[in-house]
Amino acid sequence: MAAARGGLARLLAAAAVCVLWAAAAEARSPAARVHRHLKRLNKPAVKSIESPDWDIIDCVHISHQPAFDHPLLKNHTLQLRPAFHPEGLYDDTKSSLASGEAGEKPMLQLWHQNGRCQEGTVPIRRTKKDDLLRASSMRRYGRKQHTTPNPLSVDLSMLNEGGHQHAIAYVEGEKYYGARATINVWEPKIQQPNEFSLSQLWILGGSFGADLNSIEAGWQVSPDLYGDNNTRLFTYWTSDAYQATGCYNILCSGFIQINSEIAMGASIFPISNLAGSQYDISILIWKDPKEGNWWMQFGKEYVLGYWPSFLFSYLADSASMIEWGGEVVNSEPNGAHTSTQMGSGRFPEEGFGKASYFKNIQVVDSTNQLKAPKGVGTFTEQSNCYDVQDGNNGDWGTYFYYGGPGKNSNCP
Ligand SMILES: *[C@@H]1O[C@H](CO)[C@@H](O)[C@H](O)[C@H]1NC(C)=O
Ligand SMILES: *[C@@H]1O[C@H](CO)[C@@H](O)[C@H](O)[C@H]1NC(C)=O
Repeated sequence: MAAARGGLARLLAAAAVCVLWAAAAEARSPAARVHRHLKRLNKPAVKSIESPDWDIIDCVHISHQPAFDHPLLKNHTLQLRPAFHPEGLYDDTKSSLASGEAGEKPMLQLWHQNGRCQEGTVPIRRTKKDDLLRASSMRRYGRKQHTTPNPLSVDLSMLNEGGHQHAIAYVEGEKYYGARATINVWEPKIQQPNEFSLSQLWILGGSFGADLNSIEAGWQVSPDLYGDNNTRLFTYWTSDAYQATGCYNILCSGFIQINSEIAMGASIFPISNLAGSQYDISILIWKDPKEGNWWMQFGKEYVLGYWPSFLFSYLADSASMIEWGGEVVNSEPNGAHTSTQMGSGRFPEEGFGKASYFKNIQVVDSTNQLKAPKGVGTFTEQSNCYDVQDGNNGDWGTYFYYGGPGKNSNCP
């Protein structure tokens, strides 16, 4: 009897091990990994809106957003408004009147055609299975290779091996506490799905070594990241030169969103036409001197949220360089060039309506005021492929045209 019971016990134990083993194998399977990853990224929604571009925008309760998965944000007290604004404190009554009066709001993102998120929620672009499967590595999803142009030391070896190309304006040599720009919006053509084209501003701290701190925002076309060729609003941050920290939008926790109208990574609408209507977006990023957080505003009235100061080392104090402009990935090897466009795909000489522009570029100085940048430099690796030309006039303040077609007879 004892032996039989022992046998049964062993049998049961073996069966249990089998079940556990099967469960463990299931948990390790690629499908289960995708499922777990999606569950971590996509939080339960109060409401979901399907955008005409097939995106799903989840309206997620503000305190359930992915940022709060960050271990250092467990006890964080959500800041519902900045303690300081370089253009004067954000006025709730003014903005609600401005947007509510006519019962109509300006179209800024494509998904607005099919609905809005309610107050107290934040709109989050849902990550789909296909988004993860497109990424070369799920762990690296949203953390793609990204660079900062270094106008102080050009690495020409990058060009010969295929790499990133830029056309930018920049300032350095002072302490900066923010920057703004109004950026013309286009839909540049991308030759290969693993290339991208973006137009953005960079807030930089530290040196161009391994610990570079960066906060970035603008628009981008990135087929690999989004699965289409649409122009999307994006942000990016890193505190170690793109190595272990940082990613696009809110794909890793860090940026805390407070706004219920604008979704990171969502398509911008409308887009400029060649020799037709021109559209632009305004982005302002500034450091709140009281709390130390870096805030972002989109347009005149949408304060989107903030990056807590503790994410950064150098930027916990101030920025040492500001850059504005375009970047593309050139994946052609051996010194050849991709035909991926930057900006509108036209050179700066073509001017308004054809070339893309940044206008009213400003910095927040050490007195926390928005000022025209002093001593603006420009930089491009190969002006025959993508170029930049700056200028100054009344309405446009400090501005520049930038971009180009990439591959052409002068840029083989
Ligand atoms: C959060 O608060 C709890 C309780 O006060 C504390 O034990 C924990 O260390 C805090 N966590 C962080 C990340 O500050
Ligand atoms: C994106 O554009 C490229 C050419 O510029 C085209 O080959 C590709 O099919 C487009 N992708 C999508 C998803 O529309």
